[in-house]
Amino acid sequence: MTVRAVYPGSFDPLTNGHLDLIERSLRLFDELVVAVVTNPSKTALFTDEERVDMIREATRHLREIEIVVFDGLLVDLTARLGARAIIRGLRAVSDFEYEFQMALMNRKLREEVETVFLMPHEAYSYISSRLIKEVAGHGGSVKGLVPAGVEQRLREKLRSC
Ligand code: PNS
Repeated sequence: MTVRAVYPGSFDPLTNGHLDLIERSLRLFDELVVAVVTNPSKTALFTDEERVDMIREATRHLREIEIVVFDGLLVDLTARLGARAIIRGLRAVSDFEYEFQMALMNRKLREEVETVFLMPHEAYSYISSRLIKEVAGHGGSVKGLVPAGVEQRLREKLRSC
């Protein structure tokens, strides 16, 4: 039986922590779909297309993954895709409460999908997309914290803002 998992997120932008989780998920599941939540209120720095492109570029060296943009409920997406698992990362205890609420709500909405928490490598435990944007926005270096392509796009994007 082929087991498919969905790794959802904003990915604004993809970090090396996200990439680490993608690699770990590929070791556990037969098929992986990275699901980028759409940005209707335009609060994200990067467009849907840019966020997808950055993920595609950074995962070229990995076995085939599917990348989709979605809106609406995550559990509806998992149902459409026939996915059995939702992957979420836990970096620290502070992530737990929000993640726990989401996992239980998703279970309430659709019991057959299981949330699986993975820990990124500890070298990435303090990285978040929000901090990456803040540091890059003030001209700080994010080298080694995001894929090279993301670093380049951050420079371009912030220069044009
Ligand atoms: O990277 P993020 O911003 O932490 O990802 C959050 C995400 C996209 C997983 C979450 O906001 C989500 O699932 N959004 C889709 C709408 C939905 O299903 N909401 C109910 C979740 S309990």
